[in-house]
This record gives sequence, C-alpha cells and structure tokens, in this order.
Amino acid sequence: MNVFLIGFMGSGKTTIGKKLANYLKYEFIDLDKFIEARSGMSIVDYFEAHGEDAFRELEREILQNTAFPENAIIATGGGAPCYKDNMEWMNNNGSVAYLFLSPKALASRLENSTADRPLIRNLKGEELVDFIAAKLKERETFYNQSKFVVSASDLTAERLAFYLNLRAEV
Ligand code: S3P
Repeated sequence: MNVFLIGFMGSGKTTIGKKLANYLKYEFIDLDKFIEARSGMSIVDYFEAHGEDAFRELEREILQNTAFPENAIIATGGGAPCYKDNMEWMNNNGSVAYLFLSPKALASRLENSTADRPLIRNLKGEELVDFIAAKLKERETFYNQSKFVVSASDLTAERLAFYLNLRAEV
C-alpha cells in the first residue's frame, strides 16, 4: 500500500511523512528529492533555469513513472496534485491524504523555515498570507479530491496512521 501525502508548502508533508514511515515501517520518499536527483540541480535552480512549466512536466513524469516500493509514504510537492492528471493518477495508485492548515498557520511555518522555495522566495508578512490564501483557493479543488482530508495541526504519526485505516487505534 502506498500513501501519497499532499498539501500546501509548509503543511508538514515531509516531517510527518518521515514519522509515519518510521511508525509503520514503510519507506519514506520525498518526490522533490527525486526531482533534484534526476535533474542534478536544486528545485530553485531548476525553476530558474527551465521555468515552472518544465518543472511541472518533470514532476509529473517522475511521479507517474517511478517504480515506488511496495509500502511507501510519498510526500509530493505542493503543486503536484494540481497539474494535469496527477491527482487522478495518485487516487488510482494509492491512498491520498491532504494535510490542511489555515493560510496564517502555513505562513507562520514558512517564515520560520530555512528551505528555499521558489514560489514564495520574496514574500513575507501579510503579503505571504495573501499569496497563500489565493493559491490555496485555486489548489483546494484538487486537494479536496483526496480520499482522506486531515488537519495538520498537532498531527502525530499514530493519529495519521489511524485516520488512514492503517492502524486500528491510537
Ligand atoms: C511547490 C512546492 C515545493 C516544490 C516547489 C513547488 C509548490 O514542495 O515542489 O518549490 O508549487 O507548492 P513542498 O510543498 O514540499 O515545499
């Protein structure tokens, strides 16, 4: 069984994904890392060199053509579910969980993060909250097609495993 964790940047897909994989003894896969390994450059450099459209195509190609291990937790980039048929593909190839948080909570996490994210590089404060709110509105149509919709606030691996029906009780 494969689990795809989706959600906005800062929703904690990688952090909770690693914990969940550890708890379930599954493998953890970070799709962004696969993209960086394949392209030989960081996501920021890839965006700069080739633009967002090329990034989305590469992301889709890697998502849909990687032979993932049998039991894996796969954290996807925040934009992956919203491109072409990626959402449909994930729903057909595993359990998809959307980790949601409010724009304010996301902004606060992202402001405290050291990761370099091309889409929000120059944003902070109210501008960042507004950007997230607008982008989230566009993206939620896709995100909400997930089988599981889970609040990322104070989420533990044990509780997520329970919500995903992978463990009987918390
Ligand atoms: C993106 C999210 C990033 C990364 C890229 C684009 C997005 O991943 O794929 O910077 O469009 O939301 P995270 O969600 O893991 O930060």
